[in-house]
Amino acid sequence: MVTAVNSVAQQAPVLDVMRRRQDFPILHREVHQHPLVYLDNAATSQKPWSVIEAERHYYAHYNANIHRGIHHLSQEATDAYEAVRDKVRDFIHASSREEIVFTRGTTEAINLVASSYGQCLQAGDEILITEMEHHSNIVPWQLLCQRSGAVLRVAPIDDAGQLIIEQFAGLLGPRTRLVGLTHMSNALGSINPVKALVELAHRSGAVVLVDGAQAVAHLPVDVADLDCDFYVFSGHKLYGPTGIGVLYAKLARLEAMPPYQGGGDMIKSVSFAGSTWNDLPYKFEAGTPNIAGGIGLGAAIDYVRNVGMSAIAAHEADLLAYASAQAKAFPGLSQIGTARDKGAILSFTLAGIHPHDVGTILDAQGVAVRTGHHCAMPVMERYGVPATVRASFALYNTRPEVDALFHGLAKVREIFG
Ligand code: ALA
Repeated sequence: MVTAVNSVAQQAPVLDVMRRRQDFPILHREVHQHPLVYLDNAATSQKPWSVIEAERHYYAHYNANIHRGIHHLSQEATDAYEAVRDKVRDFIHASSREEIVFTRGTTEAINLVASSYGQCLQAGDEILITEMEHHSNIVPWQLLCQRSGAVLRVAPIDDAGQLIIEQFAGLLGPRTRLVGLTHMSNALGSINPVKALVELAHRSGAVVLVDGAQAVAHLPVDVADLDCDFYVFSGHKLYGPTGIGVLYAKLARLEAMPPYQGGGDMIKSVSFAGSTWNDLPYKFEAGTPNIAGGIGLGAAIDYVRNVGMSAIAAHEADLLAYASAQAKAFPGLSQIGTARDKGAILSFTLAGIHPHDVGTILDAQGVAVRTGHHCAMPVMERYGVPATVRASFALYNTRPEVDALFHGLAKVREIFG
């Protein structure tokens, strides 16, 4: 199987997976008397010691609120938190730190754009998304359409789970104000040719939001090269903490956008006659943020950069190819999502067996997968299935773990006859 990660991975340094596994304490536990085989990384990835330790160190040594205190601890906490903003800027190649807004995660970042940028949409305007989007890149736009009278359009995917580019292009028109598309589908693994799609959308005058929740842990992301207007992702799928995420937006966009939430830290001055807003990016960061989470995210970025994004991509491409070959040979297994450019996600059904039963039997053998609609019900509808079983791989997974998955599936077959 040819994958996009393969092309990134060419000549990548080799990842020493057994050494890396030592960095993740949870990988050494057992589940139901079996060694844990964690294959639910698209839902959330496990955390290395360095991330756990960064949060612990903050709480144990310099816990204080940020941007407010004159005292030493507050200054230390502010410096550590703001240093992460620079780290994120560098990690995704944004041009300035003002373009990096911290949020609770991908979902909040998309809601921020829908609520704030969305205020410029009017009745009859159009928002274009794709059929492979996660609910968090569908529902905020539906709510915006309800508020504004804008119309939601959906670009279809083909049987392999690839966006049909001609149809996407055909749906772009003079009324298209905004395009929302995923970089990598959480349900199918498909990787979209984002740079080309952004160019198409820009040509017709639309701004583009890219949902990078899945991609950011698997592919190098360069927002300058992609030229997208917004790029969003979560810390917890990038080996970082939950409750922290990032909205990248081009400076001119943020400058023109009204605040999202009101409260402390996002203001310059407040009086009963009216208030004025803080400089960017703080205008969009009301209230005490997830300080520990931000600091943990910084440690996570250091971690993946240290391993190397191309080494991660190469390792995961190998796991996906290895798993896909076994999937092809497994009786009754239908893969859902066979895009040419694909990240390390294996989504499938087993003939005559409900995915939840598959997941339960795998769990009894210590193998953690996700079963269900993966917050992408339209994808399930597209394939006419209620749910799939999804194994999703990370930098610490191994070929023997893929074998454990298929050994588990053989057991499922045995039980169901
Ligand atoms: N969006 C996450 C997933 O795909 C929760 O599992």
